[in-house]
Amino acid sequence: MNDLMGKHIVLGLSGGIACYKSAELCRALIKEGATVQVVMTEAAEHFITPVTMQALSGRSVYGSQWDAREPNNMPHINLSREADAILVAPCSADFMAKLLHGGADELLSLMCLARPIDRVPLLLAPAMNREMWAHPATQRNMAQLQQDGAAILGVGSGDQACGETGDGRMLEPEQLLEDLVAFFQPKLLAGKRVLVTAGPTFEAIDPVRGITNLSSGKMGFAIARAAREAGAQVTLVAGPVALATPRGVDRINVRSALQMLAACEAQAPRADIFVATAAVADWRAADASEQKIKKDGSGLVPQLRFTENPDILHTLAQGERARNGALFCVGFAAESHDLLANAQAKRARKGVPLLVGNIGPATFGLDDNQLLLVDAQGSRELPRASKQVLGRQLIAEIARRLGRHE
Ligand code: C5P
Repeated sequence: MNDLMGKHIVLGLSGGIACYKSAELCRALIKEGATVQVVMTEAAEHFITPVTMQALSGRSVYGSQWDAREPNNMPHINLSREADAILVAPCSADFMAKLLHGGADELLSLMCLARPIDRVPLLLAPAMNREMWAHPATQRNMAQLQQDGAAILGVGSGDQACGETGDGRMLEPEQLLEDLVAFFQPKLLAGKRVLVTAGPTFEAIDPVRGITNLSSGKMGFAIARAAREAGAQVTLVAGPVALATPRGVDRINVRSALQMLAACEAQAPRADIFVATAAVADWRAADASEQKIKKDGSGLVPQLRFTENPDILHTLAQGERARNGALFCVGFAAESHDLLANAQAKRARKGVPLLVGNIGPATFGLDDNQLLLVDAQGSRELPRASKQVLGRQLIAEIARRLGRHE
């Protein structure tokens, strides 16, 4: 993907063992389309060499405010003016303390201080021992840095290089990448709560068998991520899929349609937007067996009977919140032909303001798709693109219908 195409990122490294992750982060930023200029403190150079970072970024690394390569001899000014964002990863406890006081005795802190504060965001990825992280001084510094306009990307939890276990690890490169991409997205749904269903459901026949379908869940996960990127609080009710949870999204795992309905009904009273992308099984076994149904050698086959599952989307769309306009419901239709007519009919049947049609066989399990948006005014096509790009476009369309524009 090219989520950072055209962005110029200054990647700052302060001293910490997490510097080894910055090499991977640098690669990930470049793979996503960004250009990366690395700036390192002297302490960082004890952990990883500028040679490594130069080779990965394709640009020579800056480490000193006395670097005479710049014609005006002001790397702190030039580097910070060119940046779309400065990301300090790892940001050590000492470097946080220095930033807090506006210290500027080496290039990285000098450049952070000299950045145009309204135009060039500063993002910090802290990395330190758990005691250092929990210390009131660090927590105080972090709160003050946020007040001063820096974005703190949080820390991970787990084993630390020192042998202890707890909070304070630097986030993984792919997590930092996801956070940075999200940072650049317009906050169209700030303050909104979004509920998304995704994936298939699994309807048990007995404890070891069941019926399900081939839904990958990718479209729903992409929509949940896009809603989060847009600043919403997102709950994702997911059927059985092995996809990673998007950063910052609350996930509720369910198996059956009945469980999915229960989870959605519990969440709906707080939601402002409901997007139903799940491929809910239409039927479940009428009398699922508590024990495994055994083949007894007689040649007789079990006679399965089915009962209809509740329609989750229709149920929520008929609820009081949806009817008085407090819950905006969006449905999906996976069709094989006559997309427009089928989507229009489904919109009416489900009683939702917006229905999104797609051709099922052309998108099942893939990373891209093509959508047809159908509402009371007419229809609009979103041409083939990655599900993540389409998810963002759909979120923008929903936001527009709620009166929010970029
Ligand atoms: O009726 P059909 O399954 O084609 O409708 C698809 C839309 O309805 C999707 O948005 C899907 O998530 C939702 N749906 C649901 N509960 C069902 C069946 C479908 O929420 N039992």
